[in-house]
Amino acid sequence: MKILVTGGTGYIGSHTVIELQNKGYEVVIVDALFNSRIETLDAIEKISGVRPEFESFDLSDQRLTDDFFARHNDISGIIHFAAHKAVGESVNQPIKYYRNNLDSLMNIIECMSKYRISNLVFSSSCTVYGQPDAEHLPVSEKAPIKKAESPYGNTKQIAEEIISESIAAYPGLRAIALRYFNPVGAHDSAMIGELPLGVPNNLMPYITQTGYGIRECLKVYGNDYQTPDGTPIRDYIHIMDLAKAHVVAVERMINEKMKNDFEIFNLGTGTGYSVLDVIRSFEKVSGVKLNYEIVGRRAGDIEKVWADPTYSNNELGWKAERGLDEMTLSAWKWEKAYRGITSMDESTTSAK
Ligand code: UD1
Repeated sequence: MKILVTGGTGYIGSHTVIELQNKGYEVVIVDALFNSRIETLDAIEKISGVRPEFESFDLSDQRLTDDFFARHNDISGIIHFAAHKAVGESVNQPIKYYRNNLDSLMNIIECMSKYRISNLVFSSSCTVYGQPDAEHLPVSEKAPIKKAESPYGNTKQIAEEIISESIAAYPGLRAIALRYFNPVGAHDSAMIGELPLGVPNNLMPYITQTGYGIRECLKVYGNDYQTPDGTPIRDYIHIMDLAKAHVVAVERMINEKMKNDFEIFNLGTGTGYSVLDVIRSFEKVSGVKLNYEIVGRRAGDIEKVWADPTYSNNELGWKAERGLDEMTLSAWKWEKAYRGITSMDESTTSAK
């Protein structure tokens, strides 16, 4: 069976492609390479032994998208990752985010209807919950959607609405939205992982780059939150656990196991860790003392959020299995491998 993975050379996409291939699916990737590298295809081929079919074009272009689907009407399911995702950039360039993230989704849905493709898995985010009230922590799928903090977050909320309304209108269409918590870590091979362009915004790549000496000092954004150590709490989830959930979701659709035509699942571990917990885990698994300083809060950050994964665990028969140390260790191994020194002496890498 053939699965289309949009954004398949990106961070979550590439790990999911491997998992699909391991399960015997044929994968076709569409990726405009806005925020990923073509070399990822070589790494995928090295890991799985199979080079996925690949086309590079912008899915927000209606004509090109239609042309693609006209040539690929044998697709059994679509996993749609391709999107811009930098929160700060979305505040400065909202139209870039609305155009890209929403036009691409609408083009895909239109083509699904036209070419009679039923199954869509959509990359959503726990950002749709904002800061849940205390009675909604841990946060389940039933928690209220809060007004989005950024245009990026808003594209995820609007996208879920577009999907829901399209399913009501177009017979045969069905979808699963997966709301990710904080994906981190890398593939066990250390041949693919998170590859932020420029200065990382997210915590884990900033930690590993600082540990490696590329960044001088990690800034910890605030230690005056109402949490046990004062730093914010997130539900970090290993990228391979996340990738596996996508395969489960695709199979749920293909095997006609859905309870409704639009289902929503939280993908998290159910455990929250603070920023200092993550730093301590990194120091433990790497043996590297991390240079960090506490600075003021980052605008838009929420205090604490972690998942109630009960519904996903029960309904999907999926559970995140890897703990924090495994996440930080795999992220560290990837950082070192990517920098080209796989067998470095860690005693020489103490932070600058
Ligand atoms: C962010 C986005 C979220 C998006 C997700 C994935 C915001 C408000 N949220 O989540 O919508 O889906 O990325 O891309 O941007 N931290 C530091 N120092 C750093 C970096 C981060 O202390 O240099 C802290 C943050 O304050 C936060 C935690 O680490 O408490 C995690 O931050 P990050 O990895 O950026 O993820 P989120 O902010 O949770």
